[in-house]
Amino acid sequence: EALPSLAGRHALVTAGPTHEPIDPVRYLANRSSGRQGYAIAAALAARGARVTLVSGPVDLPPPPGIEVRRVETAAQMLAACQAALPCDIAICTAAVADWHVASPTDRKMKKAPGAAAPILTLAPNPDILAQLAAAGPARPALVIGFAAETHDVERYAAAKRVAKGCDWIVANDVRPETGIMGGAENEIVLISPDGSERWPRLTKEAVAQRLAQRIAEYFSPDRSP
Ligand code: C5P
Repeated sequence: EALPSLAGRHALVTAGPTHEPIDPVRYLANRSSGRQGYAIAAALAARGARVTLVSGPVDLPPPPGIEVRRVETAAQMLAACQAALPCDIAICTAAVADWHVASPTDRKMKKAPGAAAPILTLAPNPDILAQLAAAGPARPALVIGFAAETHDVERYAAAKRVAKGCDWIVANDVRPETGIMGGAENEIVLISPDGSERWPRLTKEAVAQRLAQRIAEYFSPDRSP
């Protein structure tokens, strides 16, 4: 059976961490390999979607046939996402830093013997997922967020779906003993307005293909609105 097609659809995917500069040589960041987001971008492209992948700094090769916009900070990621609109589907897999350093210095901070350690003042970053979900007429028809939790995964993810204004949440358990963070496999719960659905442990590529299948079904012409 042929894959349901996403031809003619434009998908925006965010992936990887953001780096928030402290000075020219130091930064704050989150742990994120970008693997799940890159796999999702590739799976959507395999179904014929035009994909814009807005990627923070990662060690992955750009998936073939996908337009990749490389960014460093959350502010740059938001600007690249806004520039990519309009799109039909937005999938925010990026591990965006919640804060940036309020006043990064343009020279390397120096340590002097006996001097006090510097104190970093942080300022909040924009929430890219929430902004895309609240983009008014430019809002993508389907906005999907991720929720990495260490406990009470379903409860927190369901609350996050409502708080962020997105349509679906892909929730996963990132306790270190799961090996999910940075690993090859993922075990997710898909939260939608219809409820929650636990998927078996799968490779990140298989999770991506199954999610692309779900998205294609959502957009299929025989789906009642
Ligand atoms: O708020 P929290 O980080 O737990 O939410 C995770 C979801 O929100 C992910 O989909 C992530 O990509 C997105 N997010 C974002 N911009 C932020 C923080 C999170 O797009 N500043």
